[in-house]
Amino acid sequence: MSEKVSVGVIGGSGLYNLGNLTFVKHVNPETPWGFPSSPIAISSLPSGALVAFLARHGVDHSISPSAIPSRANIAALKSLGVRTIIAFSAVGSLREEIAPGDFVLPSQLIDRTKGVRPTTFFDGTGLVAHAGFSDPYSPRLAAWLAGAVEEALKDEGRGVKLWTGKTLVVMEGPQFSTRAESLMYRQWGGDLIGMTALPEAKLAREAEISFALIATSTDYDAWRPHEAGVTAAEVGKILKQNAETSRHVAAHVIERLLAIADTDPALLSEEAGCMQFGFMAP
Ligand code: ADE
Repeated sequence: MSEKVSVGVIGGSGLYNLGNLTFVKHVNPETPWGFPSSPIAISSLPSGALVAFLARHGVDHSISPSAIPSRANIAALKSLGVRTIIAFSAVGSLREEIAPGDFVLPSQLIDRTKGVRPTTFFDGTGLVAHAGFSDPYSPRLAAWLAGAVEEALKDEGRGVKLWTGKTLVVMEGPQFSTRAESLMYRQWGGDLIGMTALPEAKLAREAEISFALIATSTDYDAWRPHEAGVTAAEVGKILKQNAETSRHVAAHVIERLLAIADTDPALLSEEAGCMQFGFMAP
């Protein structure tokens, strides 16, 4: 590809394309960690700028959360020139006020995955690296995104609410949580629960890619005492509506981000050089 693509979008459950943009071509780069979940669709925005889209579960939703090739996904986007990723992920809500259909920009993560997902690029390299991860999402990008997503949701006009600064618990799955686990996550300070936000965010940090997550709420998980627990069918019901809003938000936000990047390039590459002091020397 001659022209570099600086912004990538990762779509989660329900979001398998950015069909509202003009499709240019598919690319499928092989990385040292294999092929990405799906061929990457390059599309152009109304301004002519290019964006790369990758479907995390595959375009036919055939890859379970534990089997997502996150290292290949991040490495493939990086190989195209991507410096900023905006990822979408369907999540359950652990708070009454965050309703199904709401959008959320989490600022913190609690890792409840079970160690079966490779979480670093440095395994087997002979290098010992420790990435700073106290703020798992790029803070400046996330702060900017809060205004841009709010504007996009207003522009769409369906009254979708946006929450910011929330804590997302990432569990292994594929089964949903028990009621006791769901209640425990609330006590831990969790506001949302999902299965896919990690290790993606850790790998993006190691790859020095600025990364933000837009979580889309689909259900109330299992903590409400008089309600049935979540089922895949319940999640599925709201995915289509969330995906339409996500496409609108992605197009609006990336167009603005790329326009601003002309005058404020640091916003796009907030994590550039973040691994400089991340290595243990003998
Ligand atoms: N993804 C969407 N809803 C979820 C839930 N309740 N738990 C885990 N992952 C989810």
